[in-house]
Amino acid sequence: MQIAETIEETRRIVKEWRKEGLSVGLVPTMGYLHDGHKSLIVRAAGENDRVVVSDFVNPTQFGVNEDLDSYPRDMERDAAVCEEAGAALIFHPSPEEMYFPDHCTFVDMESLTKGLCGKTRPTHFRGVCTVVSKLFHIVAPDRAYFGQKDAQQLAVIRRMARDLDFDIEIVGCPIVREADGLAMSSRNTYLDGKERQAALILSQALARGEEMAKAGEKDAAKIKAAMEEKIRTEPLAKIDYVEIVDADTMESLDTVAGRPLAAIAVYIGKTRLIDNTLL
Ligand code: PAF
Repeated sequence: MQIAETIEETRRIVKEWRKEGLSVGLVPTMGYLHDGHKSLIVRAAGENDRVVVSDFVNPTQFGVNEDLDSYPRDMERDAAVCEEAGAALIFHPSPEEMYFPDHCTFVDMESLTKGLCGKTRPTHFRGVCTVVSKLFHIVAPDRAYFGQKDAQQLAVIRRMARDLDFDIEIVGCPIVREADGLAMSSRNTYLDGKERQAALILSQALARGEEMAKAGEKDAAKIKAAMEEKIRTEPLAKIDYVEIVDADTMESLDTVAGRPLAAIAVYIGKTRLIDNTLL
């Protein structure tokens, strides 16, 4: 496995593969890899001749008071995970390599990004779309792999790839959970012992929503209210949002129909966690 820190070197390596007629999968990450990321790399390795993992904490997707500086980083560990999962190349650029000091071009989206996480993180998806577009141009993969845990991000990237004619298949992969149900996230490392326990309220609330939908409840407001009630039983939890939306358009649903997604964001102490499930 190789590690490239520049755009030029990454392009050179991928071009060599292309000359040999090899297919390429891209797994974009911000590093501090866990088993959720690993599952994306393993899947990509099964479906492509070569896999590139980008490992870059993207500054443009963090708001001013967010955790850019404290976001966990461990390149040595990431390299071991990538190697084991079957990656051929890690692209690990510096912020200066990715953004000129006078960078002023951004990819923005007019719908899909306003609700859910976009409400509390109004510039987040502009940063995500911009960096993912850059990665798509740098690596030019056949397929790119994203986790369903960031359901809004996945819908946004699918839409961006469609609207901007990226000739790349966007592959959504299932959420990977800890044995007790907590969705894997690099931000779980912020939780202390009590908070880690309290964080189970997210998957428990979603399970409550799923149960109701399975039992035939169609009224989205009722399911939403039951999930909120469940979250409020946990003293360390503070709701950011509980929504039932269409999984493709991210528009709010009154009735559970089509591809309904229950999506939640909850602060556990100072840590904001997200989770979701298709109902
Ligand atoms: O999901 C993430 O880790 C990031 O948002 C992504 C897609 C790598 C862009 O920085």
